[in-house]
Amino acid sequence: MFSIKQAERFNKIETPFYYYNTELLKNTLAEIIKHAPSSYHIHYALKANAHPTLLGFIKGAGLGADCVSGNEIKRAVECGFDAAKIVFAGVGKSDKEINYALEQGISCFNVESLHELQIINELAENKNTIARIALRINPNVDAHTHKYITTGLEENKFGINPYEFDAILDAIKKLPQLQLIGLHFHIGSQIQKLSVFKTLCLRVNEINKWFIQKGHLLPNINVGGGLGINYQEPDKQAIVDFKTYFTVFKEFLELRPQQELHFELGRCIIAQCGSLISRVLYIKNGINTNFLILDAGMTELIRPALYQAYHKIENISKDSSYGSIKYDVVGPICESSDCFGKAVALPDTKRGDIIAIRSAGAYGEVMSNHYNLRDGVKSVFDSELRSQ
Ligand code: LLP
Repeated sequence: MFSIKQAERFNKIETPFYYYNTELLKNTLAEIIKHAPSSYHIHYALKANAHPTLLGFIKGAGLGADCVSGNEIKRAVECGFDAAKIVFAGVGKSDKEINYALEQGISCFNVESLHELQIINELAENKNTIARIALRINPNVDAHTHKYITTGLEENKFGINPYEFDAILDAIKKLPQLQLIGLHFHIGSQIQKLSVFKTLCLRVNEINKWFIQKGHLLPNINVGGGLGINYQEPDKQAIVDFKTYFTVFKEFLELRPQQELHFELGRCIIAQCGSLISRVLYIKNGINTNFLILDAGMTELIRPALYQAYHKIENISKDSSYGSIKYDVVGPICESSDCFGKAVALPDTKRGDIIAIRSAGAYGEVMSNHYNLRDGVKSVFDSELRSQ
């Protein structure tokens, strides 16, 4: 929730920029620590936001890191994450990235195919080392979310399908540089129905049982991330209900005493901590449509253009950010998809008003780009503004 006073502070800063509320981040992390049983390992998915300042808080809270590129591993290491708490996922790890991860001695590669197993084995052999691996399984569980962020269906490119399990175990027997330590699952992102996680647990139980019967009681069970947030009302529930989320796993997952549970949470940790702050450049009234043209566009936040994602839009220069005038809120980029929201009800808005696009801390800044040769987007932290 932003005040007019905050808008006045923002007014002194060149827009657009990402504004991060690190107090909220600290409170979110505290909730996770409070509700996760001590045997749970929580990894933060760097892909959601890899800003070093934010990673400092996350690492400080004791979380591990879930990385999907060599550069994310490098960033995690530079920010002080212990290599023993870094996992490396991704369907297309390059040789350079695998070599780097082996040199760092990361805790686990989440492997997505038979071919990848062979390559990691070969590269580990060259380095005379052992690679710890988990099998990323495609459990064929529907996450009931946007099709671009659904990952656990047979048609998706991710993971190993159950009909391949026998061949995979046979192959591993012949790959001496690999140590199989776990099973990994991630079925999608922005999952809002907790029943989906229950379905995942039941499927994990079946698959875990199958591996145990084959003589593989694996210590790491990793259920990925995916817990959704409230984009409609970001202030109503700024911190997600971690207690209920963890309870689903406590109730429905049947782990053996030797097995520990791992998570890879991204969005639910960082999304509500960030807003994209922008300024109104122009107002263009049409016959049926009024346009608010902002100085931020799909180059700074691509989610609405890419996934038709909803982000709450507020005019924070006004007493009430709500109003009765409907505007299509658009950016300056030469694409019609460069639109943050259609028919958004706002107060009478003027050039120079500060507009906040909420819940943009996850998959916002990290997905920004330089299309149209735009400047890189900056970030501002609450601590910097407090001292002004
Ligand atoms: N683990 C794996 C293997 C993943 O692929 C992902 C996200 C996560 C963990 C973290 O998921 P989260 O807890 O953040 O839902 N750019 C999209 C989201 C892509 C998610 C990709 N994978 C968006 O803006 O909605």
